[in-house]
Amino acid sequence: MKRIKAIYPGSFDPPTNGHLDLIERGSQIFDELVVAILRNPEKSPLFSLADRRKMLEAMTAGFDNVSVDTFDGLTVDYALKVEARAILRGIRAISDYEYELQMALMNRKLQPGLETVFMMPAEKYSYLSSRLVREVAQLGGSVECLVPEIVVQKLREKIDVAHKFEKSGKLAGKPSSGGKSKSKRSKNNRDKR
Ligand code: PNS
Repeated sequence: MKRIKAIYPGSFDPPTNGHLDLIERGSQIFDELVVAILRNPEKSPLFSLADRRKMLEAMTAGFDNVSVDTFDGLTVDYALKVEARAILRGIRAISDYEYELQMALMNRKLQPGLETVFMMPAEKYSYLSSRLVREVAQLGGSVECLVPEIVVQKLREKIDVAHKFEKSGKLAGKPSSGGKSKSKRSKNNRDKR
């Protein structure tokens, strides 16, 4: 019998309950699922690759057929390397569709033998994105129902460090920017997920 392995690629900065919902659904239809975190030197993520890996490993520890890995370069090349036959992606709303379709068709052009499989997370997560979680947490809002406990803790640690950094900057007479330049903040705000 054929065993079907899939990858679930993404930035996961940070992983959310929506990601976890999709991982659970994916683990039920694929024999093996690799959550693949993109190592992207052009982006400046809130969480390091090691932190994101740690969070995802903790979140998926209960699934026997799910593993976590990192990759760079093309998603299709990584999929081939690990002998996956499918790419799992989530679609929350119609607004995701155009971008996801474009990506799926490009991936098909690059590697016709690889299928993209779209799954919908539970409706209660349809508004949830990593970008919004980062923004709400950084502005002091509660994200407790939006991300797993380990992510809540990591966000708290990050924000405490940022506040300390900001305070020491203020004391030293530096302008307050939360540790980020304006251009970096607006670039991050354009990030989709
Ligand atoms: O969680 P994200 O940021 O929406 O994930 C996007 C991701 C990582 C799946 C996409 O950017 C990607 O596949 N990047 C790897 C480079 C690549 O293969 N580019 C061509 C995609 S058509």
